[in-house]
Amino acid sequence: MQEKLENLQTEALKKIQNSKDLNELKNHEIFYLGKKGKLTEILHGLKDLPNDQRPTIGKFSNVIKKNLEEAFVQKEKMLENEMILKELEEDSIDISAPGAKYNIGHAHPLATTQYEVENIFHGMGFEVADGPEVEVEKFNFDDLNMPATHPARDMQDTFFIDKKADLKLGRLVLRTQTSPVQIRTMLKYGAPLRIIVPGRVFRNEALDACHEHTFDQVEGLMIDKNISLAHLKGVMAEFLSKLFQREIKVRFRPGYFPFVEPGLELDMSCMICDGAGCKTCKKSGWVEFMGAGMVHPNVLRAGGINPDEYQGWAFGFGLTRLVMMRYGIDDIRMLSGGDLRFTEQF
Ligand code: PHE
Repeated sequence: MQEKLENLQTEALKKIQNSKDLNELKNHEIFYLGKKGKLTEILHGLKDLPNDQRPTIGKFSNVIKKNLEEAFVQKEKMLENEMILKELEEDSIDISAPGAKYNIGHAHPLATTQYEVENIFHGMGFEVADGPEVEVEKFNFDDLNMPATHPARDMQDTFFIDKKADLKLGRLVLRTQTSPVQIRTMLKYGAPLRIIVPGRVFRNEALDACHEHTFDQVEGLMIDKNISLAHLKGVMAEFLSKLFQREIKVRFRPGYFPFVEPGLELDMSCMICDGAGCKTCKKSGWVEFMGAGMVHPNVLRAGGINPDEYQGWAFGFGLTRLVMMRYGIDDIRMLSGGDLRFTEQF
């Protein structure tokens, strides 16, 4: 009997020790000490033992019962502590861990370059003017010396967004150039004027690496008494040299735009080879940069300015193209494609 009890104790202690959680432990407790448990059974059977054995075995059984009860309580406490520690570990804050990184983004290369352009022109006394992207036909075309029948309208294939024409203002159109803001600022502020107009423009283009339906231009307009193309040359050489942080020369070639007379194209010396000739400038040493010219008297009149008193020049360049040249981007579609792998490089 004694041996049976000892074996039971060893077996129970082993099970207690190996219990992995409170549930398992509870099951063992019921198995040994419960109402119908193994040890309880033995204790019940004591009364059937011969009288001479009963006291010793009885005593011995109670010692084992106490041992097991203690072992259960102890193991229970241990498992509870382990659980608390585990919870703490899962909930705890590791103050030495690096913080979560928030991606706050940054300015798009088009915007960065636009701000730089604005800054440089600010330094030369120009103000930044603005106009709507949905423009009236009159400002986008007619007042710029391009009546509806004018063949020059073909140069800019257009998105008309409203077929109903207002008698005075014409149809609504996604502006094809920033030039209508010339008219708007002249009407609003009169002469003299010194403005640049960065802005988005739209044309019905067949899309490829060099053509997008949406791109950015920067318009320039300087009106005062005794303004000549020499001022334009000086302003542009200064602007481009500041932007590219090296000496840039400019040259004029004849060009045609209905709203300037004379009209011209301005080239800049190649910023890659400084005019020596390379791949970028197709070995010519010059890169086409923008259209410009003396503001046509009709345009001044449309803006309410007397051409006998004031004159000036206007220019328009592609900000998008400038950004592409500056960063060596060879596909215009990257700029508005929304691919973060592209924009995150800047
Ligand atoms: N608006 C012209 C274009 O988009 C550029 C230009 C502006 C030319 C001002 C001359 C003067 O092509």
